[in-house]
Amino acid sequence: MADPKKLFIKTYGCQMNVYDSERMVEAMGGAGYEATDTPDDADMILLNTCHIREKAAEKVYSELGRFKGLKTEKPDLKIGVAGCVAQAEGAEIMKRQPMVDLVVGPQAYHRLPEMEEKTRKGKKALDTDFPEEDKFEKLKSRPKAKRAPAAFLTVQEGCDKFCAFCVVPYTRGAEVSRPAERVIREAQDLVERGVREITLLGQNVNAYHGEGLNGGSMTLAQLIWELDKVDGLERIRFTTSHPNDMQDDLIEAHGTCKKLMPYLHLPVQSGSDKILKRMNRSHTAESYIRLIERIREARPDLLLSGDFIVGFPEETEEDFQATMDLVREVKYGQAYSFKYSTRPGTPAAERPLVDSAEADDRLQRLQALLRDQQTEIQDSMVGREVSVLLEREGREAGQMVGKSEYLHSVHLDAKGLKIGDVARAKIVKSMTNSLTGELI
Ligand code: SAH
Ligand code: SF4
Ligand code: F3S
Repeated sequence: MADPKKLFIKTYGCQMNVYDSERMVEAMGGAGYEATDTPDDADMILLNTCHIREKAAEKVYSELGRFKGLKTEKPDLKIGVAGCVAQAEGAEIMKRQPMVDLVVGPQAYHRLPEMEEKTRKGKKALDTDFPEEDKFEKLKSRPKAKRAPAAFLTVQEGCDKFCAFCVVPYTRGAEVSRPAERVIREAQDLVERGVREITLLGQNVNAYHGEGLNGGSMTLAQLIWELDKVDGLERIRFTTSHPNDMQDDLIEAHGTCKKLMPYLHLPVQSGSDKILKRMNRSHTAESYIRLIERIREARPDLLLSGDFIVGFPEETEEDFQATMDLVREVKYGQAYSFKYSTRPGTPAAERPLVDSAEADDRLQRLQALLRDQQTEIQDSMVGREVSVLLEREGREAGQMVGKSEYLHSVHLDAKGLKIGDVARAKIVKSMTNSLTGELI
C-alpha cells in the first residue's frame, strides 16, 4: 500500500469549525490521507475559515500568501479553502489567489474526497451548494480511534434569526437539526472511544427540533435527557443559544439533569433596547434579565457567559452605558466582546458607523468590567469543592489539568488517576487563567 498522504488543516472561528475539521480529517482518511501538524510536509493544506468579522476573513488571505512559497517548491501540493469564507466568497477566492485549488462550503464537506481527486487531475474544484443529503451521515468517522475526554458534537446547523450584523444565516444557511437517533448513536460511539463530556453544538443550538425517536420532533432538553441515559457519558454541555429559544423544559433541565453542567453561554449583544431592536434581536434587556433570573432559580450556581458587540451603528454613549448596567446586574463568569465590524450583505452594513476611536474606547471599558467580573467569580471558587474532568498531563510529574463543571481550568496533583477520570477537588488557589485544586 502507498504511504498515506498528509493533510494539514488550520481551523479558525467557532467550535462548529473545530468539529467540521475533525470530520474532514476522518473523511479524507478514506481517501488515503492522514493528519499532520506541520504545513511543510503536507500534500494538501486546508484552511477552515471564519467570516464573522472583517479581520477574521482577511486573515485567510494573509495565511494563503504565506503558503505561496511552499506551493512553488512543491507543485503537487493542493491548497483548499473551506468554511464560511469559502461559502461567502466562493470562486472569488480563486480569482484573488489563483494558487487555491479547491473551495468547499460548510454544507458540502462529504464531497471533499471527490473534489480532491479532481484537483489531482489538475482541475479546480468548487462546491458551495446546500445539498439535500445529510453531510454528517456521509462524513462517517473511521471507527474506533481513541478520543480525548471532551468532544464536540454538532446537532444543529444554520440560523434563521438574521441579526442585522451577522453573516451566519448566509454562510451556514437555514436552521437544520439532525435526527435524535443519529446524535445518540454518535454520542455512544464517542463514549466507546473514551469521551466523557460532550458539548452539543449549533449556531442556534437551543432551537434544536430534530426528528424524535418515535417520530415527531424533539426539543434540545428532550435530547439532553436521552443523552443522560448514555452510560459512561458524565457531562453534557451545549452552545450557542439564543435568549428567545430558552424554553421551559431546557431551563428546568438545568436544575434536574445531573449530567448537564452549570454553565450557560447566552449572548445578549447589547443592553440598550433601541440597539437590540436595530440589531433585530427580538428580546429586550429586561426580558433577558428576567430569563437569567429564572435559569438561576433552577440552578443557583450557574456560571454565565455571553457575547457583546459595541459600536453598533447609532450606538450612543447612553446606549453603551445601558450595556454596562446590564453587565453589572447580570454578572458574567466568562464573556466575549467585539467591536462592530461591517459585513457586506447584512442589513446593518448600510448604516452610519460609530466613530472608530470611540468604539475602541467603549470596548476597552466593557472588557475591563468583564475582566473584573471574571476574576471575581474565579477567585470566589477558592475553598469550594468541584469535580474536574482530567484532560491532560500537567507540566510537573503527577500533575494533571482538567475542567471544572464551570469550565474553569484546574491544575492538581492527581497521582493514581488517569486522563478521562473525574476527580473531586477542593480549590486552593486562583491564578490568572486557572485554578489550583487538591484532591479530596
Ligand atoms: N450563534 C451565536 C454566535 C454567532 S457569532 C449567537 O447567536 O450567539 C459569535 C459572536 O460574534 C456573536 O454572538 C456576536 O457577538 C459576534 N459577532 C457576530 N457578527 C459580528 C459583527 N459583524 N461584528 C462584531 N461582532 C460580531
Ligand atoms: Fe448570528 Fe444572530 Fe444567528 Fe447568532 S442568532 S448566528 S448572532 S444571526
Ligand atoms: Fe465564523 Fe462561520 Fe463559525 S462565520 S463563527 S466559522 S459559523
